[in-house]
Amino acid sequence: MIRACIFDLDGVIVDTAHYHFLAWKRLANELGYNLTLEENERLKGVSRMQSLEIILELAGISLNDSHKEILADKKNGWFVDYVERMLPEEIYPGVKQLIGILKSRGIKVGLASSSKNAQTVIRLLQIQHEFDAIVDGSMISHTKPHPEIFLKTAAKLGVAPSDCLVFEDAEAGVEAARAAGMKCVGIGSPVLLRKADKVFSKTSDFNLATLHELQTISN
Ligand code: G6P
Ligand code: MG
Repeated sequence: MIRACIFDLDGVIVDTAHYHFLAWKRLANELGYNLTLEENERLKGVSRMQSLEIILELAGISLNDSHKEILADKKNGWFVDYVERMLPEEIYPGVKQLIGILKSRGIKVGLASSSKNAQTVIRLLQIQHEFDAIVDGSMISHTKPHPEIFLKTAAKLGVAPSDCLVFEDAEAGVEAARAAGMKCVGIGSPVLLRKADKVFSKTSDFNLATLHELQTISN
């Protein structure tokens, strides 16, 4: 039975994944590296420092820890600038309605985002009260694809992992959901997210018919 739906934030509820990309691309440019959209897929779902490590590896640059902290802070400053100008209308169409439908069916709704800015983003979108449980990047020790964030959210919701369905746009996130023993709906490319049970191009394409269909699939 699916008793809870756990949503990733960036790229699933709102297009902040694009703001992360713009900020990382700007940082990479300063380092003399041109970060592509394809390479950016590797940065999705993982922590800020992990993302920086990937960029440095791609650019073939090695830096000490204090320099890395400075660059990660710089990127975050730009990201926060983009996000602070965001309006509640930027939430993907249909997502609020979907959450409402799930809740009306007695399904619990959780948020599991690796971002330390997740609380700010959901406050700006005015959806902080929609979630029965929230776990963000400041509450975990292991980044996706480790299952910790999803297991923690399920525990907060009081639902067994096998009764949870995750919505994810990141490859690392889909892997984390599978490692947690949860079902997973991918949002984005069916090729990149092939480990998901179902893939849609946008979150609002998911409906109750898909929910019923997934009830019958074993994890
Ligand atoms: C999310 C995004 C990643 C981002 C990470 C950390 O998982 O998908 O692209 O790097 O959060 O975000 P933060 O806001 O803490 O830098
Ligand atoms: Mg995401």
